Amino acid sequence: MREKFYHIMTFGCQMNEHDSEIMAGLLENMGYREAPKRSDADIILINTCSIRENADKRFFGSLGQLKRLHREKPGMIVGVCGCMMQQEHIIDAIKKKYSWVDLVFGTHNIHELPELITQILNERQKVVSVWQEHRGIFEGLPAKRRYPFKAFVNITYGCNNFCTYCIVPYTRGRERSRRPEDILKEIRELADSGVREVMLLGQNVNSYGLADGFDMDFADLIYAVNEIEGIERIRFMTSHPKDLSDKLIGAYRDCEKLACHIHLPVQAGSDRVLKRMNRKYTRGSYLELIRKLREATEGRIAITTDIIVGFPGETEEDFRETLSLMEEVKYDSAFTFLYSPRPGTPAAEYEDQIPEPVKHDRFERMREILDEGMAENNAVYEGRIEKVLVEGPSRKNRKTLTGRTESMKIVNFEGRPEMIGQIVPVRITEAKTYSLVGEVMEWDTRQ
Ligand code: SAH
Ligand code: SF4
Ligand code: F3S
Repeated sequence: MREKFYHIMTFGCQMNEHDSEIMAGLLENMGYREAPKRSDADIILINTCSIRENADKRFFGSLGQLKRLHREKPGMIVGVCGCMMQQEHIIDAIKKKYSWVDLVFGTHNIHELPELITQILNERQKVVSVWQEHRGIFEGLPAKRRYPFKAFVNITYGCNNFCTYCIVPYTRGRERSRRPEDILKEIRELADSGVREVMLLGQNVNSYGLADGFDMDFADLIYAVNEIEGIERIRFMTSHPKDLSDKLIGAYRDCEKLACHIHLPVQAGSDRVLKRMNRKYTRGSYLELIRKLREATEGRIAITTDIIVGFPGETEEDFRETLSLMEEVKYDSAFTFLYSPRPGTPAAEYEDQIPEPVKHDRFERMREILDEGMAENNAVYEGRIEKVLVEGPSRKNRKTLTGRTESMKIVNFEGRPEMIGQIVPVRITEAKTYSLVGEVMEWDTRQ
C-alpha cells in the first residue's frame, strides 16, 4: 500500500505548537508520515490563532492558496482547527466561502482527530466537530515532538483572567490544571527518552492548581520537577504578574535546574491602562516583583515581556509611562504588539480607539528603547562562559550551530554536529542586539 502523508501548518503560541505535535502524534499512530513537501500530503491541517487580526488574515490567505491543490488532488483532506474555530463567525465564513474544506474541529477535541478522519474517509462527506466547552483533560495522547532534547509540557489549559483585549478565554475555555502525578510522569518519561529541557506551558502557570483545589501549587511543581533525574533545565511560560508568589521567587534560589529567566508580560506601564486592561496589578507592584526577582538571583535573572501599544484610550502620557518602565526594567527581550481589536472582547467596544498612525509611531519609539536595553544587556555577556543548549545548524549559515543560554539568548558558534542536543560551554566573543556570537570551549562528547 502507498505511504500516506500529512502536513500541519501552525500559527500562534506554544500552546498551538504543542497541540500540533499531538496531532502529528495521532496521525503517525494512524500510519501517516510527515510529508516531504506540502503538495505530497494526503491530509493538510491548519492550526489557527486568533490573537490579532493579522493572524486571521494570514489564515484566510493560506486557505485560499490551498484551494487549487485540493481540487487537483482528489481525496486530499484539508482540515482547519485551533483557536479561530472556537468562534462562530469564523465557522460561518468557512461554511459560506470555503465550503470545500473537509474538516473543522476546535481546541477542546483534538483527541477526536483519528475518528474524524476515519469518518471522512468512510462517509466521504465534510465533518464539523467543535466543542464549545472542554469536557475533561485527555491524558496519554501521543506527541511527535519537534526536538528530541527539549519538550513542551502542558500544565494548565484555558484562562480565567479575561484581560479586556484578549480572545484566549473565549477560544480556550476556563482554566483547568493537569494533575501533578500526570505531569511528573510525562516529564520522567521525557527525561528517560533523552529530553534535557522542559518548558511548562499554561496561559498563567502561576495559578496552577488553584481553580482545581490541588494541594500542590506552581512553586511546589517546580521543586518536584527539579528532582527528576536527566532533566537539566526547567522553563515556564507564561507567568501572570498578579499571581507570582514569593515562594516561586524562592525557587530561583533553591532549584538549580530552574533557568535564570522569566517571561513576565507587563502589557503597559500606566496604572490607568493596566486597570482598563483588567490586569489586576499596578506599575508599582510589577516593579516590586522585578526587584525581588533580581535580589533572589543576585541580578542574574534575564527578564522578557509582552507589551501592547495603542490600547484604547492610551494617551501620550500613558505611553511615556510604558517607555519609562522599559527603561527602568531594561528588558532582555520583548514581544511587542500593536493593539488589535478582537470581536467579542470588551476593549473592542471601547469608543476611544487609537488611530493606526499613532499606534505605529508609538510602536517605533518603543522598539528603539527596547533595542537599546537589549544591546546594553547583551554587551555584559562578552567574555563570559555560558552553558548553551545546542538546537541545530543556524538558519542563516548551515555551518554555524545555534543554541540558547539559560537566559534564553541565542548564541551562534562553530561546532560539530554531535553537539546538537547537548549543553556545551561557549565563550561569548561578540554581543549583538538580538544574538551573541561565541566559541565553544573544550568539550567532552561523553558528558
Ligand atoms: N497568557 C499570556 C498571554 C497570551 S497572548 C499572558 O497573560 O501573558 C500573548 C500576548 O499577545 C499577550 O501577552 C499580549 O501582549 C498580546 N495580545 C493579546 N491580545 C492582543 C490584542 N488584542 N492586540 C494586541 N496584542 C494582544
Ligand atoms: Fe489573555 Fe490575559 Fe488570559 Fe493571558 S492572562 S491569556 S492575556 S486573558
Ligand atoms: Fe493564538 Fe490561541 Fe495561542 S489565540 S496565541 S494560538 S492560545
